[in-house]
Amino acid sequence: MTRRRLIAGNWKMNGLQSARKELVDLIARLGGEAPTDRDVLLCPPATLLADMVRDSADSGVSLGGQDCHYETHGAHTGDISALMLKDAGAGYVIVGHSERRADHGETDEMVKAKAKVAIEAGLIAIVCVGETLAEREADLAFEVVGRQVEGSVPDGASAENCVLAYEPVWAIGTGKVATIDDIAAMHAHIRARLEGMGGAGLKNARILYGGSVKPANAAQIFQTPNVDGGLIGGASLRAGDFFAIISACN
Ligand code: PGA
Repeated sequence: MTRRRLIAGNWKMNGLQSARKELVDLIARLGGEAPTDRDVLLCPPATLLADMVRDSADSGVSLGGQDCHYETHGAHTGDISALMLKDAGAGYVIVGHSERRADHGETDEMVKAKAKVAIEAGLIAIVCVGETLAEREADLAFEVVGRQVEGSVPDGASAENCVLAYEPVWAIGTGKVATIDDIAAMHAHIRARLEGMGGAGLKNARILYGGSVKPANAAQIFQTPNVDGGLIGGASLRAGDFFAIISACN
């Protein structure tokens, strides 16, 4: 089974209007359009989303949100709904990033509800899972990640509307990368959980690796079985680095 690869950039809380030139630069490096054999996605801050959707017109580069609320609309000051993201031109939304889980107390139940409204709004949900260093050292990584997958992926999720991202918390923004063996083992574990959950529809969902992916380590990570692309934080902020990572994912 070959799955279409996805290279997704997550700008987090970085990027003013001036950063839009990175997308313009990226599209130029791509020769005007994204490769036809893989998906390229950037998730900028919400303030830049609509502008960057326009910047990316006809390039095949997709844009996405970094989070959405689990309700469709209403009295939730400061939050953004999945429909608003869709309306702004997003094709994807990240849900359950470990920074959201840690900073905003998001539980699996909330993440599942977010993924559900995202899918219902016509977005592809990127559901993030990953263990902390303490959990890994206590030999709980497989149990924790398995529980997160089962708790965070909603009914109705399929390979078409849902992507998993395995991001060990201790590898995010630290320069530490999980070993290739660890990545392979966890991705196989996630694949087995998906198989057990959703029948045919879910078992071939793409599973991205995230956590200090850089141009220098990307090719090796992307060759690992069951790694169907990457979720890239820091190295997606500069067009040159992100382009190198996209190029390594072939
Ligand atoms: P990083 O972040 O690439 O900067 O480690 C990855 C992520 O949090 O998505």
